[in-house]
Amino acid sequence: MGIEKSYNSWAEQYDTNENKTRDLDRKVTTETLSKYDFKNVLELGCGTGKNTEWLITKAKFIIGLDFSEEMLNKARNKTKTDKVRFQRADLTKTWEIDNNFADLITCNLTLEHIKNLDFIFNQAYQKLKTGGKFFISELHPVKQYSGSKARYETANGIEELEVYVHHLSDYLSSAKKNDLKLIDINEWFDNQTENEIPRLISFVFEK
Ligand SMILES: C[S@@+](CC[C@H](N)C(=O)[O-])C[C@H]1O[C@@H](n2cnc3c(N)ncnc32)[C@H](O)[C@@H]1O
Repeated sequence: MGIEKSYNSWAEQYDTNENKTRDLDRKVTTETLSKYDFKNVLELGCGTGKNTEWLITKAKFIIGLDFSEEMLNKARNKTKTDKVRFQRADLTKTWEIDNNFADLITCNLTLEHIKNLDFIFNQAYQKLKTGGKFFISELHPVKQYSGSKARYETANGIEELEVYVHHLSDYLSSAKKNDLKLIDINEWFDNQTENEIPRLISFVFEK
């Protein structure tokens, strides 16, 4: 099954099934972004709007992009305000957003499905205002090396999604190529026990 179809079928249970990655990502987002002020936000791979609900408590206007109509429907039902616009879009194609629109671009748990990071960083650079931030929270590369990937349960067993491994150097070199400066990086664990593999990695880049 392709990625878009998989998310269309995962949408019904995405917010409610057991998912440590989703839950930790919520904490990563609030803890990291509480430090910043932002008005216009562009949310990449917004899914069911899990993070939109918190972002709109701080932002003036949010555009959420995603290619899964079913994930977007969940988001639209959850976040009913004219301060948020959910728009169907494939992030691997040129984004139909005004240049210099965003004070903040967020991308959570989505880049594992996108092969070409350079394209994403290039688009992000164009859509950010000068001084704008690009926040990323993704499955940690070490967690990816251990075989972890997006998956959910179906009536016919576990459905694993198509993913791409991104090394730490992939993120850093795509940012450098596109003039985005790293200003924050963190590794996030389920429990702070010794020798545990971190589940998530987060970055904040600045234009
Ligand atoms: C794991 S979900 C994360 C959703 C949300 N960001 C969150 O943290 O809960 C990944 C989302 O990325 C979207 N996605 C993956 N590849 C995409 C692409 N090429 N274009 C647009 N959306 C994409 C999927 O449809 C899905 O909603």
